[in-house]
Amino acid sequence: MIHQHLPKKKHKHPQTFLNTFNMKKTKELKRMFCFIIFFSFFSFITNNMAFPLSTKSHWIIDEKGQRVKLACVNWPSHLQPVVAEGLSKQRVDDLAKKILEMGFNCVRLTWPLDLATNETLANNVTVRQSFQRLGLTDDISGFQTKNPSMIDLPLIEAYKKVVAKLGDKNVMVILDNHVTKPGWCCGYDDGNGFFGDTFFDPLNWETKM
Ligand SMILES: *[C@@H]1O[C@H](CO)[C@@H](O)[C@H](O)[C@H]1NC(C)=O
Ligand SMILES: *[C@@H]1O[C@H](CO)[C@@H](O)[C@H](O)[C@H]1NC(C)=O
Repeated sequence: MIHQHLPKKKHKHPQTFLNTFNMKKTKELKRMFCFIIFFSFFSFITNNMAFPLSTKSHWIIDEKGQRVKLACVNWPSHLQPVVAEGLSKQRVDDLAKKILEMGFNCVRLTWPLDLATNETLANNVTVRQSFQRLGLTDDISGFQTKNPSMIDLPLIEAYKKVVAKLGDKNVMVILDNHVTKPGWCCGYDDGNGFFGDTFFDPLNWETKM
């Protein structure tokens, strides 16, 4: 690759001299602003947060009483395969790194209630089997390459592993119970909400949760 270094032209029109002071000031302010932005991001991302978090008035605070700001990305894991999406394309560690690089410190990781209430789904279906059942053969080979340690884990263990790996990289996780039955959502008539909906069984929820 060839980089062309063009000589920098200095435009010094006489009338701009009048503005030099203002421009300098603006530049300084801009720089200061970037500095502040950088450090406010930096401070809440790299803070050694002491868990668990709690609330104080309308703030979220850590164990030491320091304020914690959540900056979360959404990551769906509630769809038919019940596996965090995209892991047949990217290593989970790389995704965690990317999330931090983009300035986030947290993931809202969705999950279907069935994963907690249906033992068979949670413990007796592996990631591989889940993809097989849906005919997602490309995903199996991709997953095998990118996240081989997770492909033969039962779905609940794979979910836990994603949470653990995010935690290892200092990414916080909000476990978001998104639907009951795994699948795309959400509509008023998809039966997949809360009380009174087709797929939501309050008794099952109460006993298993
Ligand atoms: C677990 O899965 C196997 C097939 O993968 C099946 O034969 C067995 O009946 C299942 N057991 C339970 C308790 O669902
Ligand atoms: C639980 O999950 C298994 C495996 O996906 C499924 O075959 C079964 O129908 C589910 N049971 C209920 C009650 O939804």
